[in-house]
Amino acid sequence: MTNLLAIDDVAEDLQDILQWAIAFKNDEDIAFDFTPLDRMSIGCIFEKPSTRTRVSFEVGINKLGGQALVLLKGDIQIGKSETVGDTAQVLSRFLDGLTYRCFAHADVVELAEKATVPVINALSDMHHPCQAAADLMTVLENSKDLKSAKMAYVGDGNNVLHDLMLACAILGMDCTWATPKGYEPDEEVVSRAQGFADETGCTLTATTDPVEAVTGAHYIYTDVFVSMGEEHLADKANDFDGFQVNLELLENADANWKFLHCLPAHRGDEVTDGVMDHEQSIVFDQAENRMWAQMSLLTYLVDRAGWEAYADMMGLF
Ligand code: CP
Ligand code: NVA
Repeated sequence: MTNLLAIDDVAEDLQDILQWAIAFKNDEDIAFDFTPLDRMSIGCIFEKPSTRTRVSFEVGINKLGGQALVLLKGDIQIGKSETVGDTAQVLSRFLDGLTYRCFAHADVVELAEKATVPVINALSDMHHPCQAAADLMTVLENSKDLKSAKMAYVGDGNNVLHDLMLACAILGMDCTWATPKGYEPDEEVVSRAQGFADETGCTLTATTDPVEAVTGAHYIYTDVFVSMGEEHLADKANDFDGFQVNLELLENADANWKFLHCLPAHRGDEVTDGVMDHEQSIVFDQAENRMWAQMSLLTYLVDRAGWEAYADMMGLF
């Protein structure tokens, strides 16, 4: 049984998972009747708010023939009257899979350790693998050859950057990130990503200079400066002077730059309206792709035989 706690948990098949998602998105015939989650129920636990993750999982699970149960932390016993591990063991008796959005990454690790059904991390303070799957799916829709495309991330060294760099390294795409001093990504994650980059032959570069990061880049990515759970760090955003993605910064990028953001965006902080609403912004394709990428991931994790059967039928990989 495979869990998805960080995107490198599916490193070996990531390229195929994304190709499957792209094929499924564009298949108006077979996909309509393809219901591998028929009679299955997937629990979606949320400790934090969500628009994209919640709706894309609920709709995606429905489209695959399954039932999604959204379980909000305030309504269930998790972490209050019982341990995360006990909740995992109970829910595994009813459900066929679990998604979990939590604060501490250790909690989704505990859920996965104790559950007997696949667990998907729907965002923790360390990782956001479903986001990275959608991000790289969106890049693949725009660039057939990832080896000649460059990703630049400007902003906080956070959960979104962690899985983005891992996914780029796994697929062989150069990735540079610019973070202010003191907001670097986690060293252990960077070292894991470097291990994949060494295998695929791409380059990972860290800098504190946003201009250096975006120079010549094809994809420019940013995320909020203050993540969910950090609201008490009211002054944090003050340390990100010069890290806003605006049209002036993008003058340094490749002329055909594309803008990415996991959303929700704080317009006027990490990104301007001019960039968000620009014709080269692909943030809403990226948001839609959360659903397709997760449908592929869920089918891969919960019904591998069904996932492979669809790939065979479509002549993929
Ligand atoms: N990108 C993302 O995870 O969005 P939500 O917080 O709305 O789910
Ligand atoms: N880094 C952000 C991503 C939101 C999708 C957060 O954790 O709040």
